[in-house]
Amino acid sequence: MTQDSKWTRQLRYQSYEDWPSDYLGQLKEKVAHSPWRQHYHIQPESGLLNDPNGFSYYNGRWQLFYQYYPMGPVHGLKSWYHLSSKDLVHWESHGIALEPDSPYDSHGVYSGSALPVGNQLFIFYTGNARDDNWQRHPYQVGAWMDKDYQFTKIDPPLIGTVEEGYTDHFRDPQIFPYQDGYLMILGAQTEALKGQILVYQSDDLKDWNFLGPLQLTSGDSAYMMECPNYVKVDGQDLLIFCPQGLDQDELNYQNIYPNTYLSSESIDWENLTLSKPSALKNLDDGFDVYATQAFNAPDGRALAVSWLGLPDLTYPDADWGWTSVMSLVKELHFDQGHLYQRPVKEMESLRQTPIAIEETLESGQAWTYDPEDNAYEINCSLAADSKLDFLVMSDEKEAAALHIDVDVPAGRLKVTRTEQGELVNPEYGPVRKSHFKGGEDLQLQIFIDASSFEIFVQDGYRVLSGRIFPKKGQNQLIIKGSGRLGGRIYPLENINK
Ligand code: FRU
Repeated sequence: MTQDSKWTRQLRYQSYEDWPSDYLGQLKEKVAHSPWRQHYHIQPESGLLNDPNGFSYYNGRWQLFYQYYPMGPVHGLKSWYHLSSKDLVHWESHGIALEPDSPYDSHGVYSGSALPVGNQLFIFYTGNARDDNWQRHPYQVGAWMDKDYQFTKIDPPLIGTVEEGYTDHFRDPQIFPYQDGYLMILGAQTEALKGQILVYQSDDLKDWNFLGPLQLTSGDSAYMMECPNYVKVDGQDLLIFCPQGLDQDELNYQNIYPNTYLSSESIDWENLTLSKPSALKNLDDGFDVYATQAFNAPDGRALAVSWLGLPDLTYPDADWGWTSVMSLVKELHFDQGHLYQRPVKEMESLRQTPIAIEETLESGQAWTYDPEDNAYEINCSLAADSKLDFLVMSDEKEAAALHIDVDVPAGRLKVTRTEQGELVNPEYGPVRKSHFKGGEDLQLQIFIDASSFEIFVQDGYRVLSGRIFPKKGQNQLIIKGSGRLGGRIYPLENINK
């Protein structure tokens, strides 16, 4: 692809100052003309967004950062971009927070986490440095953010070396309080090329003791665990991570890399074992979810946010000088041993005057809605005997659309991306399926936003998320099949104007 050939290594890692002074302005101009810009999801002003970082609550506001390369829609020299919010929906941009400006992060300020400590926000990230032979040297670096959003990196790094027996794939620290001190988990790879989650402990944030790898009962076939994340959810310990190279025999997944979770009755952080661990599961049954970061908020909620994108893939938005978006913020719950993910309640503030649906459809009939924009929420209930196909962003001929095909008696939901021209990573297949308990009324909540969708099935029992790149004229919602459905469609406010 031309995008890739243009983006030589030298260009990707060229310092921001070395770009022509009018370059970014021109790029942003191109981005502004792009179709597919989101109405209510976080998206980069230009270039590439990837992992959420440092999701936290500090200074009376939600704080969120993300991996950012401003100069183009490719993985280049990464910074942390900073946003904050009062309500998890309207985000104020504060620009680049942490830049690759030290010898310890010369080739990227990579992923990490944040925790309020005293009256500051403590940040723990991976500094990605490379030497003249392009050999990688990962450093785990600390930084402080104060109430004026000023940043001070701690020099030297808190962890300056890779532990014995591990490769340079050693990154993504997540810090959380433990007893009177702190724990940190880190994604790593052994010299035998096995993925592991390592645990460190500190009393004072300065000295970090290596405790060893967590004894996971599954995920053994992975060669690297990216973005490990620990959060407590309704009394369960939840570990979220991205096991790259995971064997399909261990978990059925279709994406290039899965974003998975394990729950445990409790994690023993002294012995590094999990008591009564669950099987390894996919966090999302859709196409594009990765690097999910979750934390225990001071209001008692467990909140999560994901990158709606995947490493090593290219998406059509890149043709317009930008790529990738963030998911909505999701609230996590455990109920009868099952993880639920629901969009935060605050999302309701974007709802505009609803359109009511109360329909009984028979085979051959269709219900059609012509929204002003592809930016709305479908919130409805399907009767237990319904078999309905939702064609989202459909053209008039129904040739191109996102099909959300729901067979309630069978307990199966199938999402198919049928497109004209703009195929999204077809090598990983155009279909994703998800299962739920059939034969009961089904609650569906679907968020559509210009080039993304998030489907919450049975109150968050399953989630399927992804990107979709409609062409001009793909703006109808058509519901076909047989069954009964009742509920509302809410156009959602454009807050990204
Ligand atoms: C995951 C990841 C992290 C790394 C970051 C770099 O998508 O590869 O492991 O810290 O992205 O942007």
